[in-house]
Parts: sequence; C-alpha cells; structure tokens
Amino acid sequence: MNQRRPVSIFGATGQVGRHLAAMLSTHPRFSIGQLVGSPSSVGRDYPAVWGEKETTLTTHYGEWYPALPYPESIPSQVVVGLSDIPDGALVVSSVPERAGPDEDRLAAQKCTIISNSPYRRMDPALTLTIPGIPSTLVGNYVKIPNCATIGIALALYPISHLLKTLPLSVSTYQSLSGRGDARYPKDLAIGNVFPLRHSSEDTEARIQGELRRILPDLTVSVSCYRTPTPVGHLIDVSLFHQGRLSIDTVITQWMTHIAQGNSCGIYLTHADQHPQSLPDSSIDQGMTVVIGNIADHQDAGIIRFTVVVNNLIRGAAGSLILALDSVGNST
Ligand SMILES: NC(=O)c1ccc[n+]([C@@H]2O[C@H](COP(=O)([O-])OP(=O)(O)OC[C@H]3O[C@@H](n4cnc5c(N)ncnc54)[C@H](OP(=O)(O)O)[C@@H]3O)[C@@H](O)[C@H]2O)c1
Repeated sequence: MNQRRPVSIFGATGQVGRHLAAMLSTHPRFSIGQLVGSPSSVGRDYPAVWGEKETTLTTHYGEWYPALPYPESIPSQVVVGLSDIPDGALVVSSVPERAGPDEDRLAAQKCTIISNSPYRRMDPALTLTIPGIPSTLVGNYVKIPNCATIGIALALYPISHLLKTLPLSVSTYQSLSGRGDARYPKDLAIGNVFPLRHSSEDTEARIQGELRRILPDLTVSVSCYRTPTPVGHLIDVSLFHQGRLSIDTVITQWMTHIAQGNSCGIYLTHADQHPQSLPDSSIDQGMTVVIGNIADHQDAGIIRFTVVVNNLIRGAAGSLILALDSVGNST
C-alpha cells in the first residue's frame, strides 16, 4: 500500500496554516503530522481554534468575508508546540518573521523545512524557490517568497529573457487575507484602497528584493496597495519597451510556456474574460495564476497586463505543498 508521508505544520492555526492542513488532509502522497501553534494555542483542540479564528474574522469584517469551514478530512487533534516535532521530520512553516528563529532550531534537528516566513528569505545561504520556475534546491531548509512575488514571477518568468534591459512597473492590489488573522481597523479596511508604502508590513521592499533573487536580470519598481476584498491579489504590470517589443511576441512566449506543461502555473485569458468564467477547474481551486486584461499602448511604447493570484493557495499553501514534492521526495 502507498504510505503517505506525514508533514508537520508550523503555524497550523494561522490563515495559511489552515489552508495547508486542508490541502494536506486529502493529498495523495503526504498527510498531516503535528499541528503546531504558538503558546497561546498549544493544548487546545485544533477544530476549536480553527472555528474561533474564522468566526473572529467574519465577525470583524462582516459576512461578506468568507469563512473556511473545518474540513471533515482533518481528524480532530490537539495543537502542539515546537518541541513536539520529532527530529528529522518533514515540516512546512508559515509563521511570522518573529517566530522565524524557531525554524533554525528545526533545521538543527535535521528536519527538512519549507517555509514562507519572511525570516531569512533574503539570506543567500538559503534557496529561495517558486515551484514552476526552475531552481536548484540546496540543503534541508528552503524558502518560498511573498504571495504577490509568486504571482508576479510566474507571469514574468516565461518572458523574462525579453525584458533584460527594459524597466517594469508593478502595482499590487492585495486582499485583506494577505494580512492573515491580523485584522485591519474596519474603518480603514472597508471602502478604502490604501498604500502599503511606509507601513510596518514593508511589502514593497520585500517584493522588490525577492524578485531580484528570483529573476535577477529584471529592473522592477513595485508599489503595493491593500484593497477591501477578502482573498486574491490583483497585480498590474507595465513593460516600458519603447518600440522594442511587440504584444504578439509576449503572448507567443506565454502560449509556448503554457503548452509545455501544467506545472508552469499560468493561464492566459482573452482581454475581457473574467477569471471566474474560465473553463480550467484548477483556477477555481486557486492554483493557477491568471494573466489577462492585456493592452498594447503602442504610441507610449508600453505593454500593460493584469495578473491575479490566490494569495492563500498558489501564493502560499499551494506553493509550499508543490515544493514538498521536490524537496520531500528527495529526503
Ligand atoms: N496570508 C497570506 O496571504 C500569506 C501569503 C503568503 C505568505 N504569507 C506568510 O505566511 C506566514 C503566516 O501568515 P498567515 O497569514 O497565516 O498569518 P497568521 O494568520 O497570523 O498565522 C500565524 C501563525 O503563526 C503562529 N505564530 C505566531 N507567532 C508565533 C510564535 N511566536 N511562535 C510560534 N508560532 C507563532 C500562529 O499561531 P497561533 O495562531 O497559535 O497564535 C499562527 O499559527 C507569514 O510569514 C506571512 O508573511 C501569508
């Protein structure tokens, strides 16, 4: 019989952690190991913590903010602490930067860790990878970037060789769930689009730095905004080509990349097609980055397009689980 390999989740009680648990509970090759939370959750029943966190969010933002129901596929178990993760375990980590040093402790315990915490994301000693973009994974401690970086990089990777000397401008419009279970003041979040520049989240600098590591040949300016939507980040990209690039060349590169296989993770829409009407069911499950709304402003020498990424799935839990396939199977 095919044995599913247990994966411990560090940060299992958080917004991304709950999606990780849901996805692992039905995964064909991996299963749920320890569900690890902060000291405030340790010893509590996981379904109770889950329900409380989801209710807190919908109560705060309102019923339009969708709750993630507790899946029947996750057996009830108690939230444990970091010290309950056994030596040598396979771990996915989705914790805030302040909890990052605990990942070093897990690495010292010979655990294999795939993490999306900002902690040490820019450390050249650790591999920063995005499943779908070829990279060499070194060591037992691997990082994936910010959710918006994942969407941007997956869209740009197939055309990156065309963009080496061209400046790019990227604006992200990021949903409220990108902040996790932390809640913005309602009067700020609802009805407003507000800049994240100079906020404590440091999102612009993070995305810029991560893109430099993943696609080092590109010159990108990044601006980030928070929008009153529950899930999903919309990213507007402008390529300033000044007549050196045609829209047909760009679209052909994307089409060729898509035709080469599903792992590329992007889908191209017609200019006016709404992502929700797309025929590919993987888009509904949040695993596919959608590129559309493509405009060719020839007079200005600018090609502009929109990218949509599900921040919780392809931008976080889904990419961590895809990375498990390459890291977890080799350890
Ligand atoms: N939300 C997104 O769209 C998204 C996308 C990509 C990447 N990320 C990254 O993913 C990570 C988690 O984000 P999130 O949105 O899931 O945040 P979240 O909802 O606030 O969850 C944070 C998780 O970390 C745990 N934690 C917090 N402080 C801890 C500590 N000192 N020691 C041990 N555990 C601690 C929390 O445990 P308790 O609940 O038990 O306190 C919870 O399980 C962050 O690094 C974030 O930048 C988030």
